[in-house]
Amino acid sequence: MRTAGTLAMLALLLAGTASARADAPPPDAVFDPGAPLKTLAPKVVVNSGKLEWVPFHRDLTSWPTLSHHDKRPTPRPVRATLNGPLDGDAARGRELAMRPDKGYCIACHALPGEEWPGTVGVNLAGYQQHRNADELVFQQIFDARVFNPNTVMPPYGTFGILTEQELRDLVAYLQSLE
Ligand code: HEC
Repeated sequence: MRTAGTLAMLALLLAGTASARADAPPPDAVFDPGAPLKTLAPKVVVNSGKLEWVPFHRDLTSWPTLSHHDKRPTPRPVRATLNGPLDGDAARGRELAMRPDKGYCIACHALPGEEWPGTVGVNLAGYQQHRNADELVFQQIFDARVFNPNTVMPPYGTFGILTEQELRDLVAYLQSLE
């Protein structure tokens, strides 16, 4: 596996920097807790046989299971409350659903206008017809484990992958799909 070697090298790199706190990331975590852009990636130093570690273009620290040696407890499912009017922007929600660095819902779900959707989750085209309350849709995206403890859908709210406003935008988008 490609990541096994990477993790082993990061173990060497970070072994000295990891703190001893119980909730600290494991020594082979693929990020540096002290750096501003916390995820590192290997870069080949040409003709040297060596790798240098540079900030990765994304901060992957929201995903706590990057390392098989990560023994920190996974955050428990969170019941979310949707206060006040939804106030979501459907156009922004659509963008979030397509963006690989945001919702990337399209990796698992079919949505209108995408020709190569994922087939892991249910087809969300025409979602309005399901007539689900905004609160329920919000909870599903915030933390789907409340409905299905074994879901593969990421807990976007609980893990801090998306902000509350982004979740509201996504709910507005799904509810707009006729
Ligand atoms: C890794 C795959 C995956 C990703 C990514 C994903 N989902 Fe899901 N989703 C699922 C699966 C599987 C289900 C079916 C229910 C379950 O297993 O929890 C589901 C169910 C749903 C449902 C409930 C559908 C219904 O029957 O009412 C909604 C709404 C939903 N997803 C929205 C989203 C949105 C919005 C995003 C992006 C922010 C997203 N999903 C990203 C896998 C995924």
